[in-house]
Amino acid sequence: MSAFLDIAKMRYSSRSYKQTPVEQEKLHIILEAARIAPSAANRQPYIFYVVREEKLREQICSTYHREWLKNAPVIIVCCVNKTEAWTRNDGKNHGDIDLAIAVDHMTLQAAELGLATCWICNFDTNKCRNILELPENIEPVVLLPIAYPADTEKINIHLNNRKNLESFVYWK
Ligand SMILES: Cc1cc2nc3c(=O)[nH]c(=O)nc-3n(C[C@H](O)[C@H](O)[C@H](O)COP(=O)(O)O)c2cc1C
Repeated sequence: MSAFLDIAKMRYSSRSYKQTPVEQEKLHIILEAARIAPSAANRQPYIFYVVREEKLREQICSTYHREWLKNAPVIIVCCVNKTEAWTRNDGKNHGDIDLAIAVDHMTLQAAELGLATCWICNFDTNKCRNILELPENIEPVVLLPIAYPADTEKINIHLNNRKNLESFVYWK
């Protein structure tokens, strides 16, 4: 019924990866999906570190101690540039919203390519900042592993673990 909904329903948080390398071409498509995302005042206030090199990947994994993460051949460290982001006149900085949209585009594009992702925000951001030598205005927000999934049986997992529309939509 909806090609988009089919892809959205394919995406899930995979926490089991094959070590198979991810093709460079597919990474480019995923990053292109981020590039075309909307952002407040079109500031596009993000930086993505596509970490593939083993030593650096190990360091990034040390900011989030989970065995499953170590298998991911690629981890994209998604950062917001706080000073580049649009700020509303009440002081609200919109950088996190912009970055979230771009990351969501990437997860959906990855799903369409048969690749696994998982949003990771519960990592040691200070340690990550030190590893990548990020300046004060660049904040690491999301670690996004990209890999071939080893748990494809979970593909429809969240069709049953979501609230009903009636519980959060109010038609007026
Ligand atoms: C902003 C955000 C932060 C998240 N942080 C983590 C995390 O640190 N570790 C983790 O394993 N999953 C994390 N997740 C994944 C959620 O647990 C997951 O999206 C949610 O349980 C729904 O499952 P699904 O992604 O399979 O549909 C995060 C998701 C979002 C959107």
